[in-house]
Amino acid sequence: MSNAQVGLFAMGTVSHNYLEFSLLPNGDGLELVRAVANIETPQSSVNGLNMVVGIRPSLWASLAPNDTPPQVHDFASPLTGPDGFSMPATQRDLWVWFAGSSISQVFDASVGIIEVLTPYAALAEDLQGWSYRQNRDLIGFIDGSANPSLLEAPDVALVPPGTPGENGSILLFQKWLHDLKSFGSLRTEDQEKVIGRTKLDSEEFEPEELPKNSHVARTTLNQNGKELPIFRRNTAYGTPTENGTVFVGFSSDQYRLHEMLKRMSGIPDGTRDALTYYSKPLTGSYYFVPSINSLRSFADKTEFLTFEN
Ligand code: HEM
Repeated sequence: MSNAQVGLFAMGTVSHNYLEFSLLPNGDGLELVRAVANIETPQSSVNGLNMVVGIRPSLWASLAPNDTPPQVHDFASPLTGPDGFSMPATQRDLWVWFAGSSISQVFDASVGIIEVLTPYAALAEDLQGWSYRQNRDLIGFIDGSANPSLLEAPDVALVPPGTPGENGSILLFQKWLHDLKSFGSLRTEDQEKVIGRTKLDSEEFEPEELPKNSHVARTTLNQNGKELPIFRRNTAYGTPTENGTVFVGFSSDQYRLHEMLKRMSGIPDGTRDALTYYSKPLTGSYYFVPSINSLRSFADKTEFLTFEN
């Protein structure tokens, strides 16, 4: 029996830091995974700081082939739609997410882990996320309305028990840059058509009124009459002049995430997600987020990060 990394489902934290690392030239993936598996402190239950770790799918598959879901893959090449719109592939080797109730905790832990991992990997992305008006993205819409409840989220986000990679999760991580000026120049009703929900209270559209190119229409997947949901933990990032959404999406299988991206890019049918005219992805990586037991099976000692509460 294995358990999921608990931070996946620890809602309500307002400060986030996402770190992506690339192995040093000739770096050893096993040593990197061991170094991160050794880290103990943020997993303690007294300080309210969560750490979630993801590993490049192909690296994880090489280290734990029997504990990898079949057909998981890296974000190996850009996704380009028929009109040239493209989602970049910037796959890295390791992803670490700290989430807590204060920026200080998240900051100190990030400084600590960068130091611990320096012998093995270089920091490739260092992104601070925060909650904007509780649960809105910076374009002003409530983000997460269609998320499963916390009772259903494990079924949506985790690889099913009894299958390879059980209680792990597949993560899509993307940094999206908003053009708030151009989105803000639309009338509210036109913004709502872009998203496919109302702005104030996130009401759904009647099916016949939902524009085919709205974000909701492009990301709603159905298979044999059943919806295929994902579990999103997005946050806002940036400054008043340069900002966007950190897309953090977990799924029990990779098909859903990849299919949503293809549909957003217009690959299957030429219909591109209207949101992509106002926001563009700057990065894109997949990670396998193993169960805590699988990750800890690589540990050979205990390493403490020092940070203040
Ligand atoms: C700039 C980036 C993005 C922004 C600002 C954004 C924002 C939103 C908003 C406002 C909603 C409607 C409310 C809700 O259900 O949460 C939504 C729905 C959704 N988004 Fe996104 N999103 C972004 C990127 C993505 C990406 C990259 C994916 C998938 C790979 C995705 C998947 C979904 C899904 C599955 C839904 C629910 C659809 C349904 O109603 O069933 N989003 N998003």
